[in-house]
Amino acid sequence: MLSLPPLSLYIHIPWCVRKCPYCDFNSHAVTGEIPQQRYIDALMRDLDQELPGVQGREIETIFIGGGTPSLFNAAGIQQILSGIAARTPLAANAEITMEANPGTFEQERFAGFRAAGVNRLSIGVQSFDSARLQQLGRIHNSQDAILAASKAREIGFDNFNLDLMHGLPQQTPEAALADLQQAIDLQPTHLSWYQLTIEPNTEFFSKPPNLPEDEALWAIQEQGQALLQLHGYHQYEISAYSQPNRQSRHNMNYWQFGDYLGIGAGAHGKISWSAQNRITRRWKQRQPKAYMNALNPLSGEQDISLEERPFEFMMNALRLTDGVETALFNQRTGLTLDTIAPMLQQAHQRSLLLNETERLAPSPQGRLFLNDLLELFLDD
Ligand SMILES: C[S@@+](CC[C@H](N)C(=O)[O-])C[C@H]1O[C@@H](n2cnc3c(N)ncnc32)[C@H](O)[C@@H]1O
Ligand code: SF4
Repeated sequence: MLSLPPLSLYIHIPWCVRKCPYCDFNSHAVTGEIPQQRYIDALMRDLDQELPGVQGREIETIFIGGGTPSLFNAAGIQQILSGIAARTPLAANAEITMEANPGTFEQERFAGFRAAGVNRLSIGVQSFDSARLQQLGRIHNSQDAILAASKAREIGFDNFNLDLMHGLPQQTPEAALADLQQAIDLQPTHLSWYQLTIEPNTEFFSKPPNLPEDEALWAIQEQGQALLQLHGYHQYEISAYSQPNRQSRHNMNYWQFGDYLGIGAGAHGKISWSAQNRITRRWKQRQPKAYMNALNPLSGEQDISLEERPFEFMMNALRLTDGVETALFNQRTGLTLDTIAPMLQQAHQRSLLLNETERLAPSPQGRLFLNDLLELFLDD
């Protein structure tokens, strides 16, 4: 039976100083001053309309993402967090993450963010090589990135993530590994290590940069994973590595097909209604202006049908290196395991899933060919 999963809250802040040529997130270059107060008011209106979805649960994790949330000042972040606490039960040990860019302007705000209640920082370093950063259209340099991590630790963030990308234009395996080593030297509790992808509707898509060959990408991936492991970072998801017990609780809830409210321009949410056996996705107006002007910023809402649930569940759960407990399938989808018995059998026959009854977990082969594994669960 469908049970009520843990609840998270995602908050989207849609502005950046400028738009990076590889980025397809809902982020917009700031022109003039950010309408911080108007946006916070809109966020609170948005949250008010989401409250029925809470269903008495505590919010276990909050993630303030973007865009560049660190363009908001500490008073603004404080106002958002106290507005949430006034409206919903917030778990005493809630993980509260905020994305911050590593510029000096942002670093000066770190202490204020910490005092406002943020207890985990996710710093968008991307690379420690100033030439690569310039090609990526970033406004910080290598020194800023190193200082940002030291500063975060110094002012009391004992839990912080660095976002790093690899497979950058003209990047050699040696340079990618040097970047990774520099990140490791800063001893973050968590490292998100993404391979640069060229997304439609980006500048890099219309003017493709010179990316490393497949062979080099493969070498970066293999040697990078080994380096991370050597230094105590466990790969628990495709691009996520952490020190022991320092996984992102917020992202874990997504990957375990938990529930989340999404507020802010273009934010998505997913809510389970166990008595009605419904799982609903909701999404908000994308354009910041339209979002702020709307009395009700909801742009769309759709149930995840019974037929779609196996794929939606697996698409999340099988990203995890260790997969999930088998019992979670029934709890989170409301379907019995029998529903997917033929798919599981095929996945086992093709050695894409581990042969364990207690867990649904990809085999090493399944992790390598994740799309083939997921296709088995598509409703056709
Ligand atoms: C939406 S960004 C927000 C964080 C912050 N604004 C920043 O860029 O540092 C989240 C992360 O996604 C990653 N990312 C964005 N676009 C990507 C792409 N095309 N390929 C790989 N990773 C990407 C970057 O590592 C980035 O830090
Ligand atoms: S700073 Fe981050 S969110 Fe903003 S455009 Fe660049 S990658 Fe996208």
